[in-house]
Amino acid sequence: HVDLNVALLGCGTVGSEVVRLLQQQSDDFAERCGARLNLIGIAVRDTAAPRAARVPRELLTEDAHALVRRADIVIELIGGLEPARTLMHEALAAGASVVTGNKALLATHGPELHEATAAADVDLYYEAAVAGAIPVVYALRESLAGDQVTSISGIVNGTTNYILDEMTTKGLTYEEALKAAQELGFAEADPSSDVDGYDAAAKIALMASIAFHSRVSIDDVATTGIRDVTAEQIAAASRDGYVIKLLATARRIAHPEPAITLEVAPTLVAQSHPLAAVAGAFNAVVTESDAAGRLMFYGQGAGGAPTASAVLSDVVAAAAKRVYGGHAPRELPYASLPVAPIEHS
Ligand code: HSE
Repeated sequence: HVDLNVALLGCGTVGSEVVRLLQQQSDDFAERCGARLNLIGIAVRDTAAPRAARVPRELLTEDAHALVRRADIVIELIGGLEPARTLMHEALAAGASVVTGNKALLATHGPELHEATAAADVDLYYEAAVAGAIPVVYALRESLAGDQVTSISGIVNGTTNYILDEMTTKGLTYEEALKAAQELGFAEADPSSDVDGYDAAAKIALMASIAFHSRVSIDDVATTGIRDVTAEQIAAASRDGYVIKLLATARRIAHPEPAITLEVAPTLVAQSHPLAAVAGAFNAVVTESDAAGRLMFYGQGAGGAPTASAVLSDVVAAAAKRVYGGHAPRELPYASLPVAPIEHS
């Protein structure tokens, strides 16, 4: 077996699960990708901060820049724009493959990162950036590669789905439900990116970019969060046979000119619709495409272990590419559809 040096940047809920899976399945991974994956370091802000017992203390470092330079595969789980963006550029320039769960960064600076990836002739993987364990990046890029996607809609933020669900089924207030979600560990450090819809907006921008072979950013998404959803609205919806879900939607439209529309908003969903049954921190994505018709992807879209599963799938893919050659599919937008405003009738 070849040896590959793996660097982990960030060791929060997802990062510590990545460490666990890397340790637990190291022999398995060696067989699957023809390489022994050696975790050479874990960059954190504060090496003295308390963390899970399984995290090997001797691997912790506060010097992410030095760590990145020694790595073949860099797993970026810091989140946010900086220092993640600079570190990712350093990793790509040094010839490392990069695996990230950073939807905000990709949905803001995606084009620049994809260009750096191509220039360095390495690969960038981000299955974990959209809907945790659900293989929706793979589905849109590979499984539907022979089809024309016309729309994507889904519940892609576990925190808000959990909050709305607790308000609906237990009659909790918004504040009580948010606190419970934070305790379960799937809310972002700053929950405003969850409750104001930006996390979902980043995810729908990434999915739309892949599905429509275009490049759209988080700023293109008409975004409304759930802060103003009231218990009364939820009760009224329920009496009429609906539930309120934070839906993220991307559509290809033909008129008045070919374009994409992108929206995140609290939406009435009929109780009989499959998305209405998506409870707790679960996520679901429904795609409509010309030939395949409707497909639904469902599973755990947030949380340490489910998201770590997606991270590791990319690590295995990155390692296998480095050992056996070839490249991950490059994302070259060729359709370049404009974004049209959302119009409510
Ligand atoms: N905070 C996100 C969620 C998980 O609640 O779905 C990571 O994207």
